[in-house]
Amino acid sequence: MPPGRWDSPLVDLFFSNQFLQITTTVPSTSVYGFGEHEHPTFKHNMDFVTYGMFSRDQAPTSFANLYGVHPFYMCVEPDSNAHGVLLLNSNAQDVTLSPNPSLIFRTVGGILDFYLFMGPTPENVVQQYTEAIGRPHMPAYWSLGFQLSRWGYGSLDVLKETVDRMKHYDIPYDVQHFDIDYMERRLDFTYDKVNFAGLPEFMKEMKKNGKHNVVILDPFITKDEEPGTYRPYELGQEMGVWVNNSDGVTPAVGRAWPPGDSVFPDYTNPRTVEWWTQLCLEFKDVLDYDGIWIDMNEPSNFMRGQYPGCADNEINNPPYIPRISDRSLAEKTLCPDSKTYLGDHYNTHSLFGWAQTEPTFNVVQQATGKRAFVLSRSTFVGSGKHSAHWLGDNFSQWKDLRRSVVGILEFNLFGIPYVGADICGFNYNTTYELCLRWMQLGSFYPFSRNHNAEGNSEQDPAVFGDAFAKISRATLRIRYSLLPYLYTLFYESHVYGGTVVRSLMHEFTSDQETHGIDTAFLWGPAFMIAPVLEEGARSVTVYFPEAQWFDYYTGLKVPSAWKKSYATVSAPLNKIPLYIRGGYILPQQAPATTTTESRLNPFGLIIALDEQGQASGSLFWDDGDSIDTIEKENYFLAKYTFSKGSLKTEIVKNGYRGADTLKYNKITILGLKLRPQAVSLNGRSIRGDAVSYEMSGKLVLRISAPLTQELNIKFY
Ligand code: GLC
Repeated sequence: MPPGRWDSPLVDLFFSNQFLQITTTVPSTSVYGFGEHEHPTFKHNMDFVTYGMFSRDQAPTSFANLYGVHPFYMCVEPDSNAHGVLLLNSNAQDVTLSPNPSLIFRTVGGILDFYLFMGPTPENVVQQYTEAIGRPHMPAYWSLGFQLSRWGYGSLDVLKETVDRMKHYDIPYDVQHFDIDYMERRLDFTYDKVNFAGLPEFMKEMKKNGKHNVVILDPFITKDEEPGTYRPYELGQEMGVWVNNSDGVTPAVGRAWPPGDSVFPDYTNPRTVEWWTQLCLEFKDVLDYDGIWIDMNEPSNFMRGQYPGCADNEINNPPYIPRISDRSLAEKTLCPDSKTYLGDHYNTHSLFGWAQTEPTFNVVQQATGKRAFVLSRSTFVGSGKHSAHWLGDNFSQWKDLRRSVVGILEFNLFGIPYVGADICGFNYNTTYELCLRWMQLGSFYPFSRNHNAEGNSEQDPAVFGDAFAKISRATLRIRYSLLPYLYTLFYESHVYGGTVVRSLMHEFTSDQETHGIDTAFLWGPAFMIAPVLEEGARSVTVYFPEAQWFDYYTGLKVPSAWKKSYATVSAPLNKIPLYIRGGYILPQQAPATTTTESRLNPFGLIIALDEQGQASGSLFWDDGDSIDTIEKENYFLAKYTFSKGSLKTEIVKNGYRGADTLKYNKITILGLKLRPQAVSLNGRSIRGDAVSYEMSGKLVLRISAPLTQELNIKFY
């Protein structure tokens, strides 16, 4: 078959009311995507594997349908051109991958609404995809800092002890999450005035210390409080905001975290959006949150359907049930024949979290007057426009550590680049070594949060003592020092679409060897993270695609014999192997304990030269949390090019006055072939201690130059 052909023989086409099927051949077995699942590998096994898609409260387990729905895949053709395909359909569905290679799509409703994205590069595919579904939102700078969470602090005192020990070890940390134990009896829009007495003041204190607070809200609302005591229910009842039973009139009643039985807000209804907006705004006066974490929005219900169970009809029991857990559309959720404003729950089920996300994003903006932080467990096509995602209730196991890399790469294809997994694992007790390796890997998740389930032993990076804290601190300080680079990648993803975190295949597509690699990943095009993923390992086998690579720690060139081959590199407990790709310039900034502080520190550039002695890069900077700084042109953007022994800066935009007081103080150049005889900065020579050269070709310049003025450096 010629490359690039999407061939669907009509003999396999079924088009009936509750069963639609179409088969297509695909031009290669390099197929990536479909979600949300815990895939064992990034590149799919095509050996008759079937994955169901239907949003579900389900801890990551192989083959299970999880929290979100993304019927999108990318395929890399034999000639290295890539394309993407979306089946825009919200019904329960599955896809079978078979070795022909071909794909069989089956869905229980809707239409066969396919979109093709022609690439030709993987990055083009994702750019085109997000152009269609919505560009990823621009995250606040603080939200790129390290975040702590735990379900089961149990009291503010325990939480404070954690905060104190983080401080004791000076571990970078920007955000504190408050899980359901901050609530009074798990009731949304309340806080526990006994165990969390003083919470409003504590949150203010955190803010004073440059930190930010995120509170969790669940979708279900108890209906069984004393009349006149629980406004969220009474107001919702008055406004008629719930998902209804099949009669379209009486609210569907199920059971979840709160005491008694619960009803479920129907976010597809504009009245529900009004109700939610009002409550979130009022709650801001109670707890001064900076962001909202929306959980359980598949929607989760701790029963099979609502009371009194689902009627026996065709909607609740369709003739074909896709390959989803329990082979039931009602298990752990509502009956498919429940009514939402947009139609039967049968059709809108997997849109529940997606429908909740935009209104939550809007109200967080309105309440805070700042850029919104929304973290959603359930996502659908386009959720990245308003939301971050974490990979759900993973386990403190080595397998989960490893598979988190796959999940993060996949969500970057889905247009949700601001993604991470619970560092150190959510379910089960973690171990010292697993948690340490996870802190190292998690320091490079775009969304970097350590979170733990109730009943498990503590796992924050300060709880394991000196050695652990020191290593976590050092790794997070690398993250913090590279945040200007990460933030610039988020800017590019927001404006042009595309990924923040990438696989090696994404950048080195014509190298077939990269197609199956998912143990290492890249920040943008230029920074490789090769984490330790196995217990007891003190080395990692890393594949180095054709490029000039530099060891991040030493600045040494990776030996040319390693190029296009695997090398075993040392990774003692205190180290995560990191590499910089020649040809790129990475902006950096001296780290600090919070981004509030680090944002004022001097900047640096790492100029990693390719074999031709060239490199380029850019820096995006703004105040980090105002709304629409790009649209309002309140930002600074510089482009750097290094060639023929000189660095040139082009200031593309100089619209953020807060950048005026910032300075560059360090320029690092890697890969020089000869020691330069003289160096000048903007026409003035730099001498003495300000210049240090190592035989490896690494040169460090200590300078002082304003960020907002052009930086011209020449070597002679
Ligand atoms: C769900 C969430 C988890 C949270 C817990 C309690 O399991 O996925 O992150 O800690 O609920 O709110």
